[in-house]
Formats: sequence, structure tokens, C-alpha cells
Amino acid sequence: MSLICKPLFEHESSTFTYLIADSVTKEAAIIDAVDCMIERDIALIEELDLDLKFIIETHIHADHVTSACPLKNKYPNAKIVLGIENTSAEACADIMAGEGHVLPIGKHEITAIETPGHTIGCMSFLVDNKLFTGDSLFIRSTGRCDFQGGSASTLYHSIQKLFALPDSTIVYPGHDYNGFTVSTIGEEKKFNTLVREDYDQETFIKKVGSLDLSLPKKINVAVPANQSCGLISS
Ligand SMILES: [Fe+2]
Repeated sequence: MSLICKPLFEHESSTFTYLIADSVTKEAAIIDAVDCMIERDIALIEELDLDLKFIIETHIHADHVTSACPLKNKYPNAKIVLGIENTSAEACADIMAGEGHVLPIGKHEITAIETPGHTIGCMSFLVDNKLFTGDSLFIRSTGRCDFQGGSASTLYHSIQKLFALPDSTIVYPGHDYNGFTVSTIGEEKKFNTLVREDYDQETFIKKVGSLDLSLPKKINVAVPANQSCGLISS
């Protein structure tokens, strides 16, 4: 039984959404769905005849509003999953997943990995050899660490945990701003410009600290909306 894995893209915030499913049982999960793309996502779920079990957020996003609540209205049996440290959004989550929490879809298991640092509650999720890294690890880069409880030293340690996975593990990031779609742990250990394996923690902290980034345009709308799983956008 193979795993269906559909990377989907939202251009304004350069966000990847992932629809994953067991090809036999059709049980499915969606990771980091975006409000303005809900019609596309529902059409694909319907077209593939999937049974949506989990609506997963890797973290409380600052750059877009999630479609978690509107999706749950459409698929009431699906469970909204957030990382255990996201206490500000606890009221709208069905599952607060900690390290090692397993979400089954058919014969496949989605395993939660706590990877704080970009924000305090950031999670990554591993399914077979596929790693969904949210904003913890990007292709050749990482998430920023300057708001929502972010910490560069914490992110450094989280990424070391991901780097302990086999080199062949496929990395699916939460965003890409340079046209890339997929990488591997082995590639990122060698070529990541901020956190490759021969950079120590101090080097990483310096590099992340010198990123010259403006605040996300939607931060004042997106963070409160996402703390209610996107309820206000439905
Ligand atoms: Fe983020």
C-alpha cells in the first residue's frame, strides 16, 4: 500500500499544503491548509474520494490564515491537530500532539516530532520516509526566530534532532521562496546555508540573527485568527 502525497502551493505566502493519504483505505490528513485555497483542497479531497481524518497545523502561522475550522465544518469527523505547546489555540484543537504522538491513516503512521524554535509550539511530522518540517527546516534555510516565542538556540537543537534521521529522509518544507519543492536530510546537512552540519550553534545563531526580514504583512490578522484555528475566516 502506497502513500499518496500531494504537495500544494499558495502563492501569496509561498506556503506548501500537503495532502497525504493511504492509497487503499483513503484515510487522509492535510497539513497546513490555507484559507484562500479551501475550494481547491476540497475539490481534490473529493476527486480522490479521500476520508479526511486529520487537519494538522505545524504551528500558529503569522503569514496566512489556516482553513482548519472551515475544513472541519465540511468534514466534521476530522480532528484538528496542533502541537502541545500551542496553549493559545488549545480551545479549537481536538488533539494537542506531543513528541511521538501517532496519528494513523490506514496502514501509515504520522509521528509528531516537537521542533520548537521558529515558534514555541512548532512541530514536524514524519510519515514513512517523508518529513514535513513546517517552518523549522526549509530547503537551504530555516524559519526565522524573532517572534511568537522563537529562539535560535532552541531551533538549532530541534534541527539536530531532524538531522539524526536517515540522510535519505525526504524533506517537505512549509514554505519555499526560491522555487524549490523537496530536499533530503542528507542534502540539508551538507548544503543548508544557515544550519549545515559543520556549523555550530553559535554560527547558526549569528546567521539567523543577521537575516534582514520585515514582519509578515498579515501577522496582526493571521496570529489571532490561527489561535482560533481560522474560525473567523469561515
Ligand atoms: Fe511560520
